[in-house]
Amino acid sequence: TDGPARVVIDLDLPGATISRHVYGHFAEHLGHCIYGGFFVGEDSEIPNTRGIRQDVVEALRALRIPNLRWPGGCFADEYHWKDGIGPRAQRPRMVNSHWGDVVEDNSFGTHEFMDLVEMRGTDAYISGNVGSGTVQEMSEWIEYLTRADDSPMAALRRQNGREEPWTVPFSGIGNESWGCGGNMRPEDYVALARQYSTFVREHAGNRLTRIAAGANNDDYAWTEALMRSADGGRAPWQAISLHHYTSTGPASVSRGSATEFSEEEWYLALSRATRTEEPIARHSTVMDRYDPERSIGLVLDEWGTWWDVEPGTNPGFLYQQNTVRDSLVAALHFDGFHRHADRLVMTNIAQTVNVLQAMILTDPDSGALVLTPTYHVFAMNAGHQDASALAAYLLLPEEPEVVDGRALPRVSASASLAADGGSALVSLSNLDASAPRTLVLDLRGREVTGYEATVLTGETTAAHNDPDHPDAVAPAPLTSVVAHERGLEATLPPHSFATVRLELG
Ligand code: AHR
Repeated sequence: TDGPARVVIDLDLPGATISRHVYGHFAEHLGHCIYGGFFVGEDSEIPNTRGIRQDVVEALRALRIPNLRWPGGCFADEYHWKDGIGPRAQRPRMVNSHWGDVVEDNSFGTHEFMDLVEMRGTDAYISGNVGSGTVQEMSEWIEYLTRADDSPMAALRRQNGREEPWTVPFSGIGNESWGCGGNMRPEDYVALARQYSTFVREHAGNRLTRIAAGANNDDYAWTEALMRSADGGRAPWQAISLHHYTSTGPASVSRGSATEFSEEEWYLALSRATRTEEPIARHSTVMDRYDPERSIGLVLDEWGTWWDVEPGTNPGFLYQQNTVRDSLVAALHFDGFHRHADRLVMTNIAQTVNVLQAMILTDPDSGALVLTPTYHVFAMNAGHQDASALAAYLLLPEEPEVVDGRALPRVSASASLAADGGSALVSLSNLDASAPRTLVLDLRGREVTGYEATVLTGETTAAHNDPDHPDAVAPAPLTSVVAHERGLEATLPPHSFATVRLELG
């Protein structure tokens, strides 16, 4: 096309619903995600409610977190939940062998986690232990959490101070069972998944989505094995997971620095981020063969950037900074997720606080809380939750450059129509490291009666927030939007993300 790039959106052609659970989160017993992140203990000087940081809970309000996955990750397959209930002083200790080989005192356990999700108004996603646990242990955990009558586990819960059962909508059947979760072969895991899922019961009206541990990246044989055993959608589990991370280098050498990167690495990271759509699409295709009705959901329950840890920090704690580059990686993922809303029922970014692509970083010395650029993308995109996906076609005047073997257009976009039909949300990314970009929003099918536009960027591609500069990367009104004969025209600064909320007549 000639002239500025165009983003064509048919506002009257809503597609699949983007489940709010696509904006889900993940909190593992890893580094300072739980301890020092969510949980500081009742004796801390940091304001807390029963040990849970009030500022963290408050900061997460704007993200409308729909679900929180816990306690792992790899930790889940060595966690024994009964060690984390009862009086804290009497809880046994264990070694967290995956993450820093540190001693875990179990002071944050089932009651503390459920307190956190209730405080935040989010759904619990309990990830159970298949690798080193037992069927009985997993079965009893769900009974403990969700049963109302005087069953043995419900009675034990009451003894520990909680009268009413909790609601637990999501139950994970192991984690990365092909790796840290037990080094299993697909056929071994499939048998265990069937067995464990059978004994994870629905008590007292608690409806469960059991999520079988799925593939790493492009391991389509793993998905094939699970789906072959799914009996045409009547498997004892209701969803299968997938994990896919974004780095610029191999783990064995260096995954890349979070803050020091060249322009080449900027584009490489963004190209890798767009690659996440490929395993989503291809695992979905495998699933379609066995489950054309799409009754089994695909859950990307770990995604995000994985960089080298910050210099001087514990390599086992996975603490990394978060820059404008991370915000665009997140934005590109969401554009892809919206396009696959018909099969992708949930995703969980790894992880919410202080680990990998975090929303919140807390300062180890002062305890100060910093919101990351990724936090702001989640907040700006929150309006896509439970909205209907709208196709957003890109018409670019130039051929996209090929980066890492893939065409990488310098613009990305996605859109959705709110459930009440009265508004739409458009997400736009300018991936160009140094040039602004003018875009025409070609809006068809509905009358646009008003708009509100917000932009997120920083001075450089590596700009980030820290306690001394908490707003170096923060949302601001996008003032360049003007009316255009096709709809609206907007100029995005270099390396920026923007949202435009449209009021519809
Ligand atoms: O999110 C960090 C780790 O990455 C998780 O524990 C594991 O499942 C994955 O390998």
